[in-house]
Amino acid sequence: MKIKTKSKKVNKAWLNDHMNDTYVKLAQREGYRARAAYKLKEIDETLGLIRPGQVVVDLGAAPGAWSQYLRRRFAPKEAGTGGAASGALDGSIIALDLLPLEPIEGVHFIQGDFHEDEVLAKLESALGGRPVDLVVSDMAPNLSGIAASDSARMALLIELAVEFAEKHLRPEGALVCKVFHGSGYSQLATLFKARFRVFKPIKPKASRDKSAETFLVGIGLKKMAKAVGND
Ligand SMILES: C[S@@+](CC[C@H](N)C(=O)[O-])C[C@H]1O[C@@H](n2cnc3c(N)ncnc32)[C@H](O)[C@@H]1O
Repeated sequence: MKIKTKSKKVNKAWLNDHMNDTYVKLAQREGYRARAAYKLKEIDETLGLIRPGQVVVDLGAAPGAWSQYLRRRFAPKEAGTGGAASGALDGSIIALDLLPLEPIEGVHFIQGDFHEDEVLAKLESALGGRPVDLVVSDMAPNLSGIAASDSARMALLIELAVEFAEKHLRPEGALVCKVFHGSGYSQLATLFKARFRVFKPIKPKASRDKSAETFLVGIGLKKMAKAVGND
């Protein structure tokens, strides 16, 4: 006798929702690797963050939908050809993830953990001293289900992304970071407000209503006052 477990029912419900999801269908039609592309697209269309010629760092890039979107924005004439678009790339995309990434033409990929100094050093060497126009981070740790530890791990990734952005962004550059609403959210919002001239939290339509995810956007670095006695 087959016993239907709750998790099987949940998986089936998730699969049904997923298959009927407008953005999943759109992603299949437009050649994106994940529906996540439409989250970055909406953020970009709302705030006008991405322009050809920029240097962009894509953190937590696998399977690659955000890099595909960036790739298309940097090859406007090729847009709409499906996939990541190919041909001349006006701009530079450096993508990083723990997981491998199926190559995207023109995207420089680094596999590794953003927490690790040697991975950061590889990222910095790929930048070769160029200032960054935009850092986008869709990174999220594997959730353990223990709320306090999950939000602490998420917060650490975001703090590292903010630190990286402060070190490498142009003064007018921007940072987009995925965050989960819940404990720790207000501290992260405060961190963004302290570091950026403009702060905008944004929940794109492509982000499922039942998901706690939202995106923090910081635009334009504030000039940090020098710490007293630190010269
Ligand atoms: C939601 S997925 C990103 C989807 C991606 N934006 C896209 O459009 O295809 C989150 C990614 O963050 C990556 N990630 C999580 N922690 C990381 C870390 N410490 N360093 C690098 N990547 C990390 C995961 O491996 C995962 O691929």
